[in-house]
Amino acid sequence: MRYKIAPLFCRPWTLNGISPRLIESHYENDYSNALSSLNAVTAELEALDPATTAAAVIHRLKRDEAALLNSTLLHELYFASLGGDGRTLPEPMAQAITRDFGSVKRWRDEFIALAHGLAGSSGWVLLTYVPRDARLINHTTAGHEQNLAGAIPILALDMHEHAYHLEFGANPAAYVAAFMRNIEWDTALERYQNAVKVEPPPRLIQKQFADLPSITVEEVKGMVETGKPVQIIDTRPRHYSTRAHEIMQGAVWRDPERVNEWIGELSKAEPVVTFCVYGFHIGCETAVTLRKAGFDARYLVGGHYAWKAIKGPLTLLEDTSSSGPGPVMRRIQEEPSADPPLE
Ligand SMILES: [Fe+2]
Repeated sequence: MRYKIAPLFCRPWTLNGISPRLIESHYENDYSNALSSLNAVTAELEALDPATTAAAVIHRLKRDEAALLNSTLLHELYFASLGGDGRTLPEPMAQAITRDFGSVKRWRDEFIALAHGLAGSSGWVLLTYVPRDARLINHTTAGHEQNLAGAIPILALDMHEHAYHLEFGANPAAYVAAFMRNIEWDTALERYQNAVKVEPPPRLIQKQFADLPSITVEEVKGMVETGKPVQIIDTRPRHYSTRAHEIMQGAVWRDPERVNEWIGELSKAEPVVTFCVYGFHIGCETAVTLRKAGFDARYLVGGHYAWKAIKGPLTLLEDTSSSGPGPVMRRIQEEPSADPPLE
């Protein structure tokens, strides 16, 4: 592949406080050099045989390729971010920014603060749309790297010294102010409207349990922390639980194969959350059984491991037996039957 130079998107003579000389130098030197280096690295990669070339050589070339490709992409976005009056945001753009930042002023203050934070070092300040979360976010990069995976930048401010030193010298704040005065919001809106058409990555859908109500680990953690009543049942399979060393705090283990034996312990006045190891089947099936019996039961998305992943509190189980019932079973047997059935 041979990458082609993109024409300068903004009209340099229309910019307010940023001279054509600065833009021309940036375009014909820094952007152009990144592009020609990218083409050289690409040609080198295409010419080598990955089966016989040292892994370290391939690694270095691929690292350079990624940095140079990002540099060209971001420079093209930077030149396309300039050319407006900076202040007039089209209404849909203002609404999207207000939705995700609270207000346009707050977005602006944060964006400028990020730029000031990069003064004296090298990087980019980006306003980026994240399809997975369907939201905009400000962020910086170190050098030309560390872009957000799967996200689409819609506005770019180049904070490498070459972007301003020729004209603003050691006063990057003046350069940042000039950039803000020249943002071209109409094309930023076009990029945003294109970005929101990008589908988020596929989410986990359990077709078998598509209609079964679920609850997230964050929601359950919130309920536990605020003292909302909830009956949490660990229904990891017996063969798995007997080897386990910990259980979600506030949960009790119950054998999913013997629901009829313990269903009478539950209260219909409080919600029930069931979970298994990863949240795929057994917790769901138990929730189905409980719902059929009239309980407000939901399965925990992601199960035991999702709880662990958000650092939800766990109770360690004492493993004192080398045979017979495993630690989870032991704990359950030790529970006085007079206690409320679910903690
Ligand atoms: Fe640059």
